[in-house]
Amino acid sequence: MLKTDHPQGGIPIVPFQLTSSSEADTNLWGQRLADHAIAGDVFLLYGDIGAGKSVFARAFIKKFLNDNDVEVPSPTYTLVQTYERGEVEIWHADLYRLTSPAELDALSLHEAFGSALCLVEWPEMIRSMPEIKGATEIWFEQVEQMADQRKLHIRPGNLRITEAVRSIQAGFA
Ligand SMILES: Nc1ncnc2c1ncn2[C@@H]1O[C@H](COP(=O)(O)OP(=O)(O)O)[C@@H](O)[C@H]1O
Ligand SMILES: [Mg+2]
Repeated sequence: MLKTDHPQGGIPIVPFQLTSSSEADTNLWGQRLADHAIAGDVFLLYGDIGAGKSVFARAFIKKFLNDNDVEVPSPTYTLVQTYERGEVEIWHADLYRLTSPAELDALSLHEAFGSALCLVEWPEMIRSMPEIKGATEIWFEQVEQMADQRKLHIRPGNLRITEAVRSIQAGFA
């Protein structure tokens, strides 16, 4: 996790904090944000193992592809899985097992940023790359003693996503 002085252990204070009460809620957030996503958007997904990053990414990608049957495996071992919708490439990465900057270079993520729609789990290692300026960041936080509850902390990377999060949040109320 990021080292910050947030009282809840490494999560910075960001504009939106919402509660997901179930996996279905997290799916809805993924689906609804996918409706507002365009090529070039980058979503950095932070959180411990089991926090819900892959659940979110899977729902997002299925919705963006408009295909509920497509397999969206966790890229834990492959590091990157790619998809296509017409001209738009989608990159789903999981950098947990990344060990060196050289390995990062070999993934060619820097080429995807800016053109592909990118969802990156465990993005700590790339956070300072200039290419990801303007990324939307989401921290998934597990809630103690509430097995199916998560807090999502969202820092939108641009005004379009800010408006999107606002309207999605209003729809949940
Ligand atoms: N509110 C919730 N949102 C997302 N996942 C949840 C939620 N409640 C329970 N879960 C469970 O937590 C796990 C999240 O797994 P996963 O998305 O693979 O985590 P990560 O990719 O962050 O390691 C799944 O088993 C899912 O069923
Ligand atoms: Mg995962």
